[in-house]
Amino acid sequence: MKKIMIFGAASAIAQETAKLFARDGEHLFLVDMNISRLEAVRDDILARFKTKIDLYEANALDFDKHQELFEKAIQTLGGLDYVLIAHGTLPDQTKTQENPESIIREFNINCVSVISLASIAANYFEKQNQGCIAVISSVAGDRGRQSNYIYGAAKGGVTTFLQGLRNRVAHSGVSVVTIKPGMVDTPMTAHLPKSPLFAKPNDVGKGIYKAMLSGKDVAYLPGYWRLIMTIIKMIPEGIFKKMKL
Ligand SMILES: NC(=O)c1ccc[n+]([C@@H]2O[C@H](COP(=O)([O-])OP(=O)(O)OC[C@H]3O[C@@H](n4cnc5c(N)ncnc54)[C@H](OP(=O)(O)O)[C@@H]3O)[C@@H](O)[C@H]2O)c1
Repeated sequence: MKKIMIFGAASAIAQETAKLFARDGEHLFLVDMNISRLEAVRDDILARFKTKIDLYEANALDFDKHQELFEKAIQTLGGLDYVLIAHGTLPDQTKTQENPESIIREFNINCVSVISLASIAANYFEKQNQGCIAVISSVAGDRGRQSNYIYGAAKGGVTTFLQGLRNRVAHSGVSVVTIKPGMVDTPMTAHLPKSPLFAKPNDVGKGIYKAMLSGKDVAYLPGYWRLIMTIIKMIPEGIFKKMKL
């Protein structure tokens, strides 16, 4: 039985990945900031699959409690094999850009807390010479755009951090998986007009599950986003800055 911690486990995407690990009978330690939502997630999973699930309420912004959280997870699970970091917020770009305090808060949620959690996981896995850290970044981190550069820059910071972390721990048999979804139809994007490019959370959740099992370095989900972002990254800056993206 593998031991898996999911931070941001009430996220629509992470729930789908959790279900697949539950189907395999793995022991789950689910973390999010609202215990009643976590209980609903657990009950839904246990109605479908027979497995063991423990819950823990934590706010990603409580940086000083991250170490304690890992100790609790390791003690409860009796070790740790996989960590999925999935929490996040999508700020309103035009409102947030007017307020540096809000920008810092968004960076703390979407970048700094993620870096802290991933570092603690890496230090633990490096010592045991095995483990997998998967983090949901975003295609938004591949290029800064006027419509969402605060969120995009935070995700870009995560992506670059994970790239370096992967380099560091590769020789210890630890895998670091960067997940880059495009647009996904979840509560986070409920206010946005939908287009055919929107993926379903269960498809993205399945992609994350597969990437974690294979220890893939970078997974664009769905896969066609790799091509889209390759083209977007190739547009010269002089042209890009005039585009309304
Ligand atoms: N949806 C997309 O189009 C898309 C695209 C690319 C990447 N992503 C990334 O995918 C991940 C999952 O997002 P989702 O689409 O599944 O959205 P979601 O359903 O809104 O999930 C986000 C989760 O993060 C939790 N969270 C927010 N702030 C937190 C904090 N300070 N501490 C602990 N938990 C916190 C939320 O809890 P509450 O609900 O209680 O606030 C929620 O459970 C995020 O990292 C997101 O950036 C999403």
